[in-house]
Amino acid sequence: MTQLLNGNKLAIDIRKEISKEIEKNIRNKKKRLPHLGIILLGTNSSSLTYVNSKIQECKNIGIESSLIHLPNDSSERELLKEIQKMNNNPLIDGFIVQLPLQKHINSDKIIMSINPKKDVDGFHPENFGKMSLDMKAFVPATALGILTILDRYKIEISGKHTVVIGRSRIVGRPISILMSRKNYLGNSTVTLTHSHTPNIDYYTKQADIIITAVGCPGFLTGKMIKKGAIVIDVGITIVKDGKKSFLKGDVDFNSVYGKASYITPVPGGVGPMTRIMLIKNTLMAALNNENK
Ligand code: GUN
Repeated sequence: MTQLLNGNKLAIDIRKEISKEIEKNIRNKKKRLPHLGIILLGTNSSSLTYVNSKIQECKNIGIESSLIHLPNDSSERELLKEIQKMNNNPLIDGFIVQLPLQKHINSDKIIMSINPKKDVDGFHPENFGKMSLDMKAFVPATALGILTILDRYKIEISGKHTVVIGRSRIVGRPISILMSRKNYLGNSTVTLTHSHTPNIDYYTKQADIIITAVGCPGFLTGKMIKKGAIVIDVGITIVKDGKKSFLKGDVDFNSVYGKASYITPVPGGVGPMTRIMLIKNTLMAALNNENK
């Protein structure tokens, strides 16, 4: 029997917890509501969908959000200017620059220009480095969402072999570091596979936990996993079928369902957890901000 890891349901629980904390530590103390800034460049349809759902999540929970939407052909300089405005605005507690960025923009330079204290994505090297060294830091929302799913479903990670597919800074790299940390919700033996790994199924067949984040619909099939494996599907691709379009994960759900012990569905698995973890990071930034 395969059990679904229901990210929608967990996100509802966590939304309630965050709302309570906002009530207790912010509203009751008559403090300003947390405020998330979002900078989006261009009109990439996936990015627009992600950004809209992040804004909606802020509304659901009752925190402030501001979107700066720049045209596709904006220069790196213009983007850096908007980042400086967010860095210097005391009313913005944390902000993100939606990725991926256009080819004419140097993403590293952009991420490095974000004030680490407002970097609620946890992508700045200061946060990423601290996270890698088990120090307190903003942790990238998707990776935090995956750890929270495993934690809330009481899935043991310690001593397990985790195979991560994909080494992006958004998911693959941070989750591979977090799963291997000497920490509660860590102590896993991690294999990080990627586009240059020959015979990926050699590794996935040995995995107790598989986390796939490559954005390749149906990539992981039932034949590539061992019976009872825990499968976390991070890939979300918009697939068109005639006039209809729908979301498809990296996992070939039909062949994996029945063989895995647990699986995250797409949609309704990791996605809602990513959004709520971004809010959690924003609340953390707001509380840190007010402690100053
Ligand atoms: N693009 C896809 N996921 C993310 C994310 O978590 N943060 C940002 N900034 N861009 C993304």
